[in-house]
Amino acid sequence: VSDKYAEPLNGVDRYAVVGNPVEHSKSPLIHHAFALQTGQDIEYSRVLAPLDGFAMTVQSMRETGFKGANVTVPFKLEAFHLANHLSERAHDAGAVNTLLFNTESIVGDNTDGVGLIRDIEQNLGISFEQKKVLLIGAGGAAEGVLHPVLEQHPQLLVIANRSLDKALKMVKKVEDQGEYRFVSVNAYAFDDLKGQQFDIVINATSVGLTDTKLPLPRDIFAEGALAYDMMYGRETPFMDFARRHGAAKVSDGMGMLVEQAAESFFRWRNIRPLTAPVRAQLRA
Ligand code: ATR
Repeated sequence: VSDKYAEPLNGVDRYAVVGNPVEHSKSPLIHHAFALQTGQDIEYSRVLAPLDGFAMTVQSMRETGFKGANVTVPFKLEAFHLANHLSERAHDAGAVNTLLFNTESIVGDNTDGVGLIRDIEQNLGISFEQKKVLLIGAGGAAEGVLHPVLEQHPQLLVIANRSLDKALKMVKKVEDQGEYRFVSVNAYAFDDLKGQQFDIVINATSVGLTDTKLPLPRDIFAEGALAYDMMYGRETPFMDFARRHGAAKVSDGMGMLVEQAAESFFRWRNIRPLTAPVRAQLRA
């Protein structure tokens, strides 16, 4: 972990990804590639915050001249509470993955949702409009992408989760807000999915890094369906299941990772980097 807050660099704006664990984060590689591509002079490191010391870590970073940070597991909720100002999408997500440090305040944003949408719509070329969408999971990752998915006007959004009560709570929140009346939003337990088909199936559970198989019916994928796992770095059991049971396109979350990073970079530097070369670099 290159924890550099003791040595300010003259004239170079500093950013970091803060998490625990953080040593495997690809964010420094991605942001350095963006910086090189756009001619921005920045330094981007990894900062390991103690599990009980996120606020203190952010405080030290501000004092030593950091301009912003990405926030990863398990601090996205804490970052949400720490920020003095929230973007609308951070407010909707109930979580923050991007911090901007001003002299007076900490601004919290969330670029995860837009990252997912850009990867699916622009990179994979699949529109959400009028599609039947299944979102699997009802934890932080699922909540973070819920509003951005609804904003794309799908015909139907089903949230399926092992613990049905959490999916029901997400649906109730959407209904109470009353913003998305044009989409039918429902919560299901895995067993209730039998006989239904979806055009876009997104795995937002945390099972991707284990060998746990989600109990999905085999005929869940409609003709031409996309199966998208928000995890990256390996072929997950969900991706394998999707390939064997008729998904036309299967993707991991590497593109989402690069897109959310690009949006954070844009928030900090006001320049939008090209993501395709960086995706290619990561895949290689
Ligand atoms: P994250 O921030 O990654 O979303 P989280 O908030 O802990 O992490 O949520 C984890 C998600 O993965 C939840 O939807 C969880 O289901 P429960 O709400 O029922 O716990 C889901 N999950 C984790 N392990 C799972 C498993 N073995 N089978 C099915 N779902 C699982």
